[in-house]
Amino acid sequence: MKITMVGTGYVGLVTGTLFADRGNEVVCVDNNEEIIEDLNNGKVHIYEPGLERLVKNNLANGNLKFTYHLREPVLNSKVIFIAVGTPSDEDGSFDLRYVKSVAEEIGDILKDAEGFKVVVGKSTVPQGTYELVNNIFNNKLKGAKVRWGYVSNPETLAEGTAISDFAKPDRIIIGTHSDEAFRVMQELYHPFNIQSDRIIRGSPADAELAKLFSNTALATRIATINEFARIADITPEADMDIIRKMVCEDQRIGYKFMFPSPGYGGSCFPKDVQGLAARARENGYDPLLLSQIHHSNEAHKNYMGERVQKLLTGDKVNVAVWGLTFKPNTDDMRDAASVPIIERLIKEGARVVAYDPQDGKARQIFGDKVNFAEDKYAAVKDADALILLTEWKEFDAPDFDRLKELMQGNLIFDLRNRWLPKAANNHGFNYYGVGRNYPLQL
Ligand SMILES: NC(=O)c1ccc[n+]([C@@H]2O[C@H](COP(=O)([O-])OP(=O)(O)OC[C@H]3O[C@@H](n4cnc5c(N)ncnc54)[C@H](O)[C@@H]3O)[C@@H](O)[C@H]2O)c1
Repeated sequence: MKITMVGTGYVGLVTGTLFADRGNEVVCVDNNEEIIEDLNNGKVHIYEPGLERLVKNNLANGNLKFTYHLREPVLNSKVIFIAVGTPSDEDGSFDLRYVKSVAEEIGDILKDAEGFKVVVGKSTVPQGTYELVNNIFNNKLKGAKVRWGYVSNPETLAEGTAISDFAKPDRIIIGTHSDEAFRVMQELYHPFNIQSDRIIRGSPADAELAKLFSNTALATRIATINEFARIADITPEADMDIIRKMVCEDQRIGYKFMFPSPGYGGSCFPKDVQGLAARARENGYDPLLLSQIHHSNEAHKNYMGERVQKLLTGDKVNVAVWGLTFKPNTDDMRDAASVPIIERLIKEGARVVAYDPQDGKARQIFGDKVNFAEDKYAAVKDADALILLTEWKEFDAPDFDRLKELMQGNLIFDLRNRWLPKAANNHGFNYYGVGRNYPLQL
């Protein structure tokens, strides 16, 4: 099938490449010329494990093409995906300007098209956006020869595991009023839907809300355990890591997304939680619980920064940081907890040396405010404190002897609760985790 994918970011590039990998003819379009030039040379501008190889293979076999010209691919394609960004506006509501402008461009082009086209909203959008897109198409395509159907098909992949998430989805959400468009989507997704039927069909509104509910539910779990971690921090003898296991063994609760951390980040949870609540308020209902999740998470990030800062007293100013990205196996820094925490420490006079296996975007954000080390042990040389901020696997088993030799201080802030406090203590470190009140109190 011929497909156009508009937006070649973390979602568009992965989904476009995987459709191409199954034999479809995919043209990925982006209005960032630099990205398109790089992609045409096989250079991928984001880090997603396994992606570059798949891009190169499918460029080579001709199934995958990249361009910044929308017209020709749209006219030639059966299915046109909109996978552009939907960032937060200043008031927390979704900024839909990219979705609107792409819908208008596609609408203008489709005036000259014939046959049946499926336009698919893949971006995460607030409830009711399908009406906005439908109106754009209805207005533009009055009297046109082309017939079209709109589908809301929100993406459920997660960065870091995007390729396997897309190839083996737990569900494929399809929201459409058009049976014809639905049949096209069934055919397109068939290679990913052979073992068992993963497609769940509803209205576009169902699909839009399902995506927002998923992300809000996951964000709520993280915010909840982090609030408990703060309660544990002021409860003598409480260790959140033990409490977590006592709770999560309950199969009704489970372990997933129930891990103390410096707060959730990334390009989805913060904006989707706020955007959902903002749209609900616009529509006349203030979701009291959901409206507080974002504030709870922001307060937690502040608390984490404050906690570290309070212990860096006197002349303890050299701070080593392991991990900057919002989670492992990505280079994405959007809303990463590392940013407010590090900025706070720098403001208070700390000198920060950081190491992250994928530090490209972090370097752009911090510039020369942070020194970047080439490996994790180079980062800790002469440090007074080490902070673990992202749980990349290579940080799982630190050589505490080596750390002791290299560091001049003995503070360890394990903000992902990855390490054994006793192991660190036995090597002479003062260990602080998230909600792990021993061995020392603030
Ligand atoms: N990143 C994730 O893990 C993830 C997961 C599920 C859903 N989503 C949702 O998918 C959408 C895309 O997210 P992303 O992370 O891929 O964003 P992104 O910022 O990485 O990519 C968006 C791309 O769209 C391009 N673009 C913007 N306007 C354009 C235009 N007019 N024409 C052509 N290209 C244009 C940008 O240049 C950019 O490359 C968002 O709504 C997001 O919430 C993201």
